[in-house]
Amino acid sequence: MLKPFIADHPLIQHKVTLLRDRNTSSKQFRELIREITGLMCYEATRDLPTCEVTVETPIAKTKSRKIAGRKLAFVPILRAGLGMVDGAVELVPSARIGHIGLYRDETTMKPVEYYCKLPGDIGERDVIVLDPMLATGGSAIDAIGQIKQRGPRSIKFMCIIAAPEGLKALTEAHPDVQVYCAALDECLNENCYIVPGLGDAGDRIFGTK
Ligand code: PRP
Ligand code: URA
Repeated sequence: MLKPFIADHPLIQHKVTLLRDRNTSSKQFRELIREITGLMCYEATRDLPTCEVTVETPIAKTKSRKIAGRKLAFVPILRAGLGMVDGAVELVPSARIGHIGLYRDETTMKPVEYYCKLPGDIGERDVIVLDPMLATGGSAIDAIGQIKQRGPRSIKFMCIIAAPEGLKALTEAHPDVQVYCAALDECLNENCYIVPGLGDAGDRIFGTK
């Protein structure tokens, strides 16, 4: 089982605090999600292979390093994962984007699948699944299961806030998937919301409440 990576960088922690604040507007909330995702992508892409190339500066020829053509795909879980796409793509503009549509049934809390469109060449790609919230883990486990059926090279899961219950369920269901999060919170409440969390991420991104 891979140890989860918890991003404790001061910039990320500062922005997560603003994100949690109930008085943060939808506009600010969207900007913060984008910024945090970019900073976290920096960590999640740390193992990308590089190769040596020759480059000519205005002064001299030198050997330097470039990304060795590794193919990435980002897969946001709709809806809230959509808020993370821009921050990820700003860092890796060549990445392909897939989409998985899931919502939690309000009584069972189980994920309900409604959409799945993944890049045709996903078998040649490393996938980073994006969703700001890992609560019970049901949505992440289901989405990763759908992606695994298409045989990608590897899968990572990136969220902003995780509950211990969801992290445990996800790492047990998919021990090969590296999880990145910015905060590991206390617990879930009786409605399976993360405590202290930030509320309903989709509603705060899209202003639907
Ligand atoms: C939220 C969130 C995750 C899911 C996490 O989505 O974005 O996808 O809940 O909960 P879980 O770990 O218990 O499955 P939601 O179902 O509210 O749908 P939405 O993004 O369309 O609002
Ligand atoms: N989904 C959210 O958006 N927030 C939570 O706290 C749990 C699930």
